[in-house]
Amino acid sequence: MINFLNPSLEKPYILFQSLYQKALDHGQKGVEAISVSSFNKGANEVEARYVNLKYIDVNEWIFFSNYNSPKGQQFESHNQVSVLIYWESINTQIRMKAKISKTSSEFSDKHFQGRTKEKNALAISSNQSQVIGSFDEVTKNFNETLEVMTSETHRPDFWGGYSFIPYYFEFWQGHENRLNKRHVFKLQDDQWKEQLLQP
Ligand SMILES: Cc1cc2nc3c(=O)[nH]c(=O)nc-3n(C[C@H](O)[C@H](O)[C@H](O)COP(=O)(O)O)c2cc1C
Repeated sequence: MINFLNPSLEKPYILFQSLYQKALDHGQKGVEAISVSSFNKGANEVEARYVNLKYIDVNEWIFFSNYNSPKGQQFESHNQVSVLIYWESINTQIRMKAKISKTSSEFSDKHFQGRTKEKNALAISSNQSQVIGSFDEVTKNFNETLEVMTSETHRPDFWGGYSFIPYYFEFWQGHENRLNKRHVFKLQDDQWKEQLLQP
């Protein structure tokens, strides 16, 4: 589920919220799963992965991750991302282009404090995306961290929130005979410019 902290009254946000509610009403699973594509400057490659969107706070879309991970390094060197959602239950795709940065440490701390001990033990114990010899080593690191953790354990500096602010949306709604509706919103001079695209 996505938490809407301070809902925006701007048009693409109102449309997003109504489609989100419709997807939930149609029993859509994994509504919070979004694909985030980033640019790996060193390799001259684009990379995509799913993350779980946790909050939308006005125009900030927030998820959490390891700041040292490949995606974290890519966001540092190239702060533009492409985000994709597909809700099969309502045959709707949402595409976004956005600028990404870290959330405040206070925001990350608050979120970390609200998570289970197990989730936090994994966040602390895993050097995300680094090669490891065996899965046993993963569980060993996890169990050792879990054992020493207390209610006082702080969020590590290398884990926290990312917030992206979209400047482009495309809502694609599938219809019969491929008469698909494509509704674009582009941010220009602080105004959302609306356009319809051919299917
Ligand atoms: C549905 C789904 C949700 C995920 N959510 C997150 C997430 O919120 N944060 C995260 O760091 N990884 C999440 N992952 C794992 C990422 O897809 C990815 O494997 C990991 O972040 C490493 O990515 P990187 O090597 O590009 O940094 C999720 C995977 C799936 C399939």
